[in-house]
Amino acid sequence: MTTPSIEAARRRTFAIISHPDAGKTTLTEKFLLYGGALTGGAGAVKARGDRRSATSDWMELEKQRGISITSTVLQFPYRDCVVNLLDTPGHRDFSEDTYRVLAAADAAVMVLDAAKGIEPQTLKLFEVCKARQMPLLTFINKWDRPGRDALELLDEIESMIGVQPAPVTWPVGIAGDFRGVVDRRTGDFIRFTRTARGATEAPEEVIDAARAAVEEGASWTTARDEIELLETSGLDHDEELFLGGEMSPTFFGSALTNFGVRLLLDALIDLSPPATAREDTDGKPRPLDAPFSGFVFKVAANMDKAHRDRIAFLRVCSGEFERGMVVTHGTTGKPFATKYAHQVFGQERETIEQAYPGDIVGLVNATDVRVGDTLWAEEQVTFPRIPTFAPEHFMVARVRDTGRFKQFRRGIEQLDQEGVVQVLRDPDLGDQAPVLAAVGPMQFDVAKHRLENEFGAPVELSPTAYSVARRTDEGSSAALRSMRGVDVLARADGTLLALFESRYWLDRLQGDQPELTLEPLVAGELAG
Ligand code: G4P
Repeated sequence: MTTPSIEAARRRTFAIISHPDAGKTTLTEKFLLYGGALTGGAGAVKARGDRRSATSDWMELEKQRGISITSTVLQFPYRDCVVNLLDTPGHRDFSEDTYRVLAAADAAVMVLDAAKGIEPQTLKLFEVCKARQMPLLTFINKWDRPGRDALELLDEIESMIGVQPAPVTWPVGIAGDFRGVVDRRTGDFIRFTRTARGATEAPEEVIDAARAAVEEGASWTTARDEIELLETSGLDHDEELFLGGEMSPTFFGSALTNFGVRLLLDALIDLSPPATAREDTDGKPRPLDAPFSGFVFKVAANMDKAHRDRIAFLRVCSGEFERGMVVTHGTTGKPFATKYAHQVFGQERETIEQAYPGDIVGLVNATDVRVGDTLWAEEQVTFPRIPTFAPEHFMVARVRDTGRFKQFRRGIEQLDQEGVVQVLRDPDLGDQAPVLAAVGPMQFDVAKHRLENEFGAPVELSPTAYSVARRTDEGSSAALRSMRGVDVLARADGTLLALFESRYWLDRLQGDQPELTLEPLVAGELAG
């Protein structure tokens, strides 16, 4: 083994996914606390967040809505590993952005609020993990306060996302009267001790079963009975099923009070896969020790007004990345200098000198680089593009002040490149009134806000009647255009999309005129 594969084996690259308010931010902070990356005590990451919202318009929207819109990458050492935590935007509705972040991760942690379980608005997010066969760990959070029954929550995970939960720990005491957890691997009881808002690591008192039975009485007996039940239903960890995304090791705890955080983090190191060879477009894995390669999964512009730039986030797939190396940009075949490579920790940037498979590098001012592009050195490789979702929401955008049309056009182009929304144009109307297409309506708010605040082009977004899109071609477009309730628009990559007002109308048309080209937009998963 050479350095890249040795380093790759130490990498754990994952994303935390959750419904807003389930505790993703809190858990992230606690991971950093346990990883020793939080020097200012718990809350430092949040404080960092507040500061950045104060200095940037872009963050203002985040502040107003109390959600996190931009993804950040946090890297910290834990035990003998390097953990890369990719932050997914905490939208209530699913967005493409989240999907792209997942494409760069090797595993995910799903955080559920013990009182709420799986919330319908975020169901799609969890389904995506399942569809991508992504190893998923589950953390049932907020057990320190009243919530639902543990067995009922397990049932819900299984029935709603079709992933079988395999509890690694099991709670003693009901939600709200939390005594601790049983570690099912050892049978020991780990007692929960409240810490003052979790500013320090939680003390973990490990007690053997005999003593726990005496000290915890009825709560212990109930937990034992439930565990027996789990054993008979076969809810035990199975590595193969976990790696295939079919079974999820499940943990109970309370991120706020730090309880259960270490067990979860240890499991991430012990159970979740290291960075492994990624397949190219031909399905051939690029060996970890091959020369450098990686793909861009996110492009963010103007994250910080003071910088006014554009960062392409690249996941390293093979070899060793060294800042300053000149690589090839797969799409254009042009050389690309990596002089301005950063590690982006939250909003703070640090120059990065080296990176290995699993790591994320932020390339500043990577003007020509788009989401999905491959960068490589020495031996050519192309990684598959990240599929885009079939949009389900469509709005027409018009600039309010025609004097700002240039800014509007520039803004629209930028948002399209970043994939904030997909931009569709009527060949006859051109850039005057593009149709913005999105998977979740939240994407429109972001687009509108950014056009106004970043590009100085206030816009009016008006709804359209369309709700379904299909890929079509030149041959079918004339016939489709002549129909009522259908429009054919072009995406920047040249793809023609036929938009329909209803799926019923589409189904009927496909039945009546099978010769028309009308294909789902995404092959496979979650095609609209
Ligand atoms: P998010 O990123 O998923 O949106 O959730 P976040 O961590 O911001 O947590 C949402 C709220 O839930 C926060 O309360 C947080 O303190 C609380 N919380 C997180 N984990 C736990 C837990 O284990 N137990 C309990 N009881 N609460 C938890 P807030 O009042 O909105 O914010 P704050 O004033 O506490 O910062």
